[in-house]
Amino acid sequence: MNRPAAPVLAVTDLTVRHPGSVTAADQVSLTVEPGGALVLIGESGSGKTTVARAVPGLSGPRAEVTGSVRLDGTELRTLGERALTRIRGRHIGYVPQDPTGSLDPLRRIGPQLTEVLLRHRVADGRRAARAAVPPLLERAGIGEPDRVARSFPHELSGGLRQRAAIAIAIACAPRLLIADEPTTALDAVIRAQILDLFAALRADHGIALLMVTHDLAAARRIGGRAAVMHGGRILETGDAAQVLSRPRHPHAAELVAAEPGVRP
Ligand SMILES: Nc1ncnc2c1ncn2[C@@H]1O[C@H](COP(=O)(O)OP(=O)(O)OP(=O)(O)O)[C@@H](O)[C@H]1O
Ligand SMILES: [Mg+2]
Repeated sequence: MNRPAAPVLAVTDLTVRHPGSVTAADQVSLTVEPGGALVLIGESGSGKTTVARAVPGLSGPRAEVTGSVRLDGTELRTLGERALTRIRGRHIGYVPQDPTGSLDPLRRIGPQLTEVLLRHRVADGRRAARAAVPPLLERAGIGEPDRVARSFPHELSGGLRQRAAIAIAIACAPRLLIADEPTTALDAVIRAQILDLFAALRADHGIALLMVTHDLAAARRIGGRAAVMHGGRILETGDAAQVLSRPRHPHAAELVAAEPGVRP
């Protein structure tokens, strides 16, 4: 019998409390295998972003976080900020819910990408880093890489900004890509391109994907596994096709039934 591959990401009993707020994530456990995908779904406020931010240690200084987050077996929760900074961007790519948050508004896209490549020593020198920019932007589905590289974030459409943020997140070929609502603001064609890109990153580079989405069609297309959150807890986890067609938990069933235009 084949032993299952060791997970890239293993989260165990992760709990996040914000001061003066409800428990935003409550005893959350999940794993993502190399090349695998886990899609986090759930109503607004159920704790999806809380989990996505806690994994790379971005819960903020006021949050109270307990539990374990292991990346390739390394416990991240006990690492200091300096070690985490080295891991973020290098081994964990993170595309936040609002992509403008991961882009520097005052700098052009190209230099932002070269900066990431140089900071994590993925490119050997400035010239090599600059040469790596257009192919990286193309991989993120950007058709005019030179124009986009010369642009400031505000000069780009929402879809291009999203893809530029993804290019930065995958620049260093991370082990884990976390994408929070990566397709929500995009039209159908671009959404399909982004989902295909994620599939290729998983298949070609064994990148593990943790994706948050409201978009159940996107969740189906990603495949892999799905976890349904409600009130900070994971209600059920399973094969995405199964969870999205025959959810076991009533709250999960409600979520699927509420999908516009699709009968559960
Ligand atoms: N920094 C914070 N301070 C206080 N409460 C917070 C903070 N961040 C999140 N919360 C609360 O934690 C809960 C979970 O929020 P979270 O953003 O994780 O939900 P979500 O599932 O991502 O929702 P959405 O689908 O709307 O993005 C909510 O009740 C939210 O108000
Ligand atoms: Mg969210």
